[in-house]
Amino acid sequence: MEKLHQELLDYISASPTAFHAASASVHLLREAGFQELRETEPWRLLPGGKYFVTRNLSSVIAFRLPEVDYRAFQIVAAHLDSPCYKLKGKGAAACGGKYAMLDTEMYGGAISASWMDRPLSVAGRLMLKTEGGVKPVLFDAGVDMLVIPNLCIHFNRGVNDGKPLRVQSDMMPLYSLQKGADIKAQVAQMAGVEPADILAEELYVYNRMPGTVWGPEREFISAPRLDDLECAFSALKAVIEAENLGNPAVACLFDNEEVGSGTRQGADSDFLETVLTRIDRAMGKGEEAHEAVRASSFLVSADNAHAVHPNHPETADQANGVWMNEGIVIKFSGNQRYTSDAVSAAVFRAVCEKAGVPVQAFYNHSDIPGGSTLGHLSGRHVSIPSVDIGLAQLAMHSSWETAGAKDLLSMVKGMTAFYEAALFSGSDCAWNIMA
Ligand code: CO
Repeated sequence: MEKLHQELLDYISASPTAFHAASASVHLLREAGFQELRETEPWRLLPGGKYFVTRNLSSVIAFRLPEVDYRAFQIVAAHLDSPCYKLKGKGAAACGGKYAMLDTEMYGGAISASWMDRPLSVAGRLMLKTEGGVKPVLFDAGVDMLVIPNLCIHFNRGVNDGKPLRVQSDMMPLYSLQKGADIKAQVAQMAGVEPADILAEELYVYNRMPGTVWGPEREFISAPRLDDLECAFSALKAVIEAENLGNPAVACLFDNEEVGSGTRQGADSDFLETVLTRIDRAMGKGEEAHEAVRASSFLVSADNAHAVHPNHPETADQANGVWMNEGIVIKFSGNQRYTSDAVSAAVFRAVCEKAGVPVQAFYNHSDIPGGSTLGHLSGRHVSIPSVDIGLAQLAMHSSWETAGAKDLLSMVKGMTAFYEAALFSGSDCAWNIMA
């Protein structure tokens, strides 16, 4: 367990942005013998093969093919992006003839207060001019570089009574005491390139605090970006370690969930659909066989869930709340904001029961709508039975989130058992689950 926690925390540290999370994922996949495919080239696939393909270098789909002919795809989806602040335009703004601050906008729905008074840095990607065109380069400053200072309580007596925090006026990170200081010049220098060779960039502010496992029983794990790197990491472990596959095991790690998934590389794109079509074509399945395989497939959409809050239990439905360290959460919603229904929940529950993995059911407080997830967005393109799951955590979208330390193992075991289950749908809504 200690080793698994450390692996997750290393993965999170290596993943300040979705680009880095994709790169860290690719690193784990390569180490496990997965071969890279490119969307821009024809694919030749072999039974028993392990492959991955990236899109925008910020989304990854990894898959393993069984040695035998197959009847379904077994898919797990999670997301690699997290709410944060993104640098705008020229980067720096000046104040009072002295300070240089960074001009940023919010990416996704961050809890602003959680970004104040802690060590921040900058990471993202640079697009560099080359002899023949342009090329991407990953960038991570990797040092304490910024702070977003709170206004002291003496000037802000109502601070503990709640005060709106505006991105443009309250959340600009302090960068330098030189008003002309140019962060882009520093980034170029740190990256070892000429400033003029950076034609464009996507740079984000991230929390540098390393994650930790804590509590009298070491029952908690806290870190930045647990939503959803905890599920992404679990999906990677499962697709790498699952044995005796009866069907292709597919792990989708998408970018842009926090901004609605509607990008070329998001869950609401044709990325997954295209990959599934190309796998079947490469494996010699005609159009009719492809449709049958697709119809028999199953998606597990994994994104963290809200544990009952210790100070605000009233925000949970007391009868249907979920708790840290009590297993994988299956999320339900009457208006289908989550994709789980009786059929998909029963299939997933049966898989977990066989594997000895605990599960618990989550329903939102009926008067407080929750978030939505990847499942129904992927479902617009690949409309297959899907279950929404996650791990119970606190402070979702804070720059420092807390989850149950024991649950990580449950998620890895549950996803691995799912891949190993060789599912297929015999008739509408009836499923065979062969261990
Ligand atoms: Co999430």
